[in-house]
Amino acid sequence: MPSMTKVRYEVRGRVALATIDGPPVNALGAEVRAGLADAVERANKDAGVTALVVAAEGKAFIAGADISEFGKPPVAPSLPDLLDAIAGSSKPVVAAIQGVALGGGLEVALACHGRVALTGAKLGLPEIKLGLIPGAGGTQRLPRLIGAAKAFPMMLSGEPVSAGQALEYGLLDEVVSENVVAVASQLAETLAATGAGRTAADRLTEADREAFEALAAEALKKAEGAPNVPALVEAVRSVFSLPFAEGLAVERRLFLELVADERSKALRHVFFAEREVAKLPGIGPEVKPREILSAAVIGAGTMGGGIAMCFANAGIPVTLIETAQAPLDNGMNRIAAIYDISVQRGSLTPEARAQRLKRITPAVGLTAAAKADIVIEAAFEEMGVKQSIFTGLDKVAKPGAILASNTSYLDIPTIAAATGRPQDVLGMHFFSPANVMKLLEVVRTKEVADDVVVTAVALGRRLGKVPVVVGNGFGFVGNRMLEQRTRATERLLVAGALPHEIDAALTGFGFKMGPCAMADLAGNDIGWRSRKARGLKASVADAICEAGWFGQKTGRGYYLYPQGARAGQRDPEVEALIARISAEKGVTRRSFTSEEILARLLDPMVNEGARILEAGIAARPGDIDIVWINGYNWPAWRGGPMFWADSVGLDVIAKRLEALAAETGDKALEPAPLLQRLAAERKGFGSLKG
Ligand code: 3HC
Repeated sequence: MPSMTKVRYEVRGRVALATIDGPPVNALGAEVRAGLADAVERANKDAGVTALVVAAEGKAFIAGADISEFGKPPVAPSLPDLLDAIAGSSKPVVAAIQGVALGGGLEVALACHGRVALTGAKLGLPEIKLGLIPGAGGTQRLPRLIGAAKAFPMMLSGEPVSAGQALEYGLLDEVVSENVVAVASQLAETLAATGAGRTAADRLTEADREAFEALAAEALKKAEGAPNVPALVEAVRSVFSLPFAEGLAVERRLFLELVADERSKALRHVFFAEREVAKLPGIGPEVKPREILSAAVIGAGTMGGGIAMCFANAGIPVTLIETAQAPLDNGMNRIAAIYDISVQRGSLTPEARAQRLKRITPAVGLTAAAKADIVIEAAFEEMGVKQSIFTGLDKVAKPGAILASNTSYLDIPTIAAATGRPQDVLGMHFFSPANVMKLLEVVRTKEVADDVVVTAVALGRRLGKVPVVVGNGFGFVGNRMLEQRTRATERLLVAGALPHEIDAALTGFGFKMGPCAMADLAGNDIGWRSRKARGLKASVADAICEAGWFGQKTGRGYYLYPQGARAGQRDPEVEALIARISAEKGVTRRSFTSEEILARLLDPMVNEGARILEAGIAARPGDIDIVWINGYNWPAWRGGPMFWADSVGLDVIAKRLEALAAETGDKALEPAPLLQRLAAERKGFGSLKG
């Protein structure tokens, strides 16, 4: 029997008060459930008590079921049993809600006989975001209380509503700006005296059913294979056709099926990985960020302009610096044009556009960076260029200013060595388009001061990014693994697969685009230039570039793009060229199934991920997953490459890599020592946590 220290029970006058105190967010773990069940029982047994109020300490009323308990052996009392006890209590129970009431937290409130919330409270059923549906009566109680046409969209989007909105919906009885517990106690006493409110108001009219069915049809059309949307529709639909208890049983069955589904497991993994990534190894909470009131960005190209927009969008004044007026004007025009598109689409008001543009001050010459609290260099990707900029910045930047490079590959300590202040220099690697993509790799060198890292992470969040702290090393985390996929693509093309087959394997997996379509979009010349600079060759990719087929911008690449089409069409010439290259290499082309293609693309990435972990370039496997989900469109419901590898089994991946290494004679494809060790121990990367 768990102890009940997370719920305090006291009696104030004739009303009992159960206060949940389970930081950080009062999740409904076993202790909280037991404490609440005990409170209901005590209040019902105590002749001097007429009603019970459930309240909570801290920033949340209740953040929901304890997600970390999912998939583990159940501990009594279950949440449904607890809610049965609350709903069936002979003395009325009223929820006093402050902060967020989410998921199971809102379901607790729904099982109560009355609900009072503090202004600023937020109420929602976000289970959909975890690949689930509400599993403790939410799909049955909320539609009965506010109508299915209002309840269904709340559950479908997972977005919380404000207290005011909830009051309007009839979800809440009252909203108060203070004394929520006292007001809830009054309501509880009134309910006890009048017996009112014991059964939920029934909003289930025929008109409501029709409105719900219309919304459901639309949602199902958009669901694209997400298993929880049909489940949600089925559960909500049953409120119109089944008695309450049977509806609850339908909901429970669907919920438990979804909890066991790999897709929900992956999304739950992502939930925790997103929170873990914020914890910086070796840096305690005593390290505070430096103040960032203004910024400068060096280079008004696509990346620099995008980064400047991030600052402007976040309300931080930024100076955009170029070497000459013409490229500066081009850069500013490009930014204005991007904002114009947002205005045309209606996602930005003309006033906001003007304000944002006003926050960007164009300037020629590095001296304009003198006053900035942070300078981000986004100039040409060449060490000499970067070093000369940092030498210049060292002369003009104010003491304590943070100097960051947006390099995708280059060595940050070498860049830092161009200054006399390596403790203030780090990498901040944005992803293109910088104003859109969420990922920010914060590259931590051995020399950089802890508070600089903390500042870069805090700033990243202010800019709306997902910052991931990574170690210094060629390509850091994301691009280093991407390179493995690019090489794998080339290997597959030579061995017998065609571009559309490779892309289809990845889109079938859940990516929005495969590697060939992606290369065509980004421009094949980028990789070509980088390979030439490093003395590397890729027969197919090089031949395509030598033919001038740089991708969408030239109307052809791996695919044909007639008349500016965005979706590529198979190109017989490219396919013949690939076949010729195979023949030249003496390769007899063979066909590959989607599964084989997938394994050949993803296994080498996982192997590289293992090496990245061995080298300490990423702190945790989950960090790598967050990088790939936020920077490379890895489908979140696949959990990221390291989570995926665990779900396949590392022993399976290790064997496949051994076979691939033997087939190609490429020793680099042999399983990394970490992968080998975990595979031998029959463990996953997930076992490395904590
Ligand atoms: N279960 C377990 N742990 C949880 C949790 C939950 N439901 N919600 C938050 N936490 C943990 C986080 O992992 C984090 O732990 P850490 O400090 O060890 O990393 C800590 O609480 C604080 O969380 P955040 O960093 O996210 O804090 P914020 O203040 O930014 O946000 C929040 C607070 C809005 C409550 C946010 O945490 C959140 O959205 N939580 C999840 C809400 C949710 O999805 N609830 C539904 C759960 S499923 C359910 O209820 C099923 C039911 O229908 C049966």
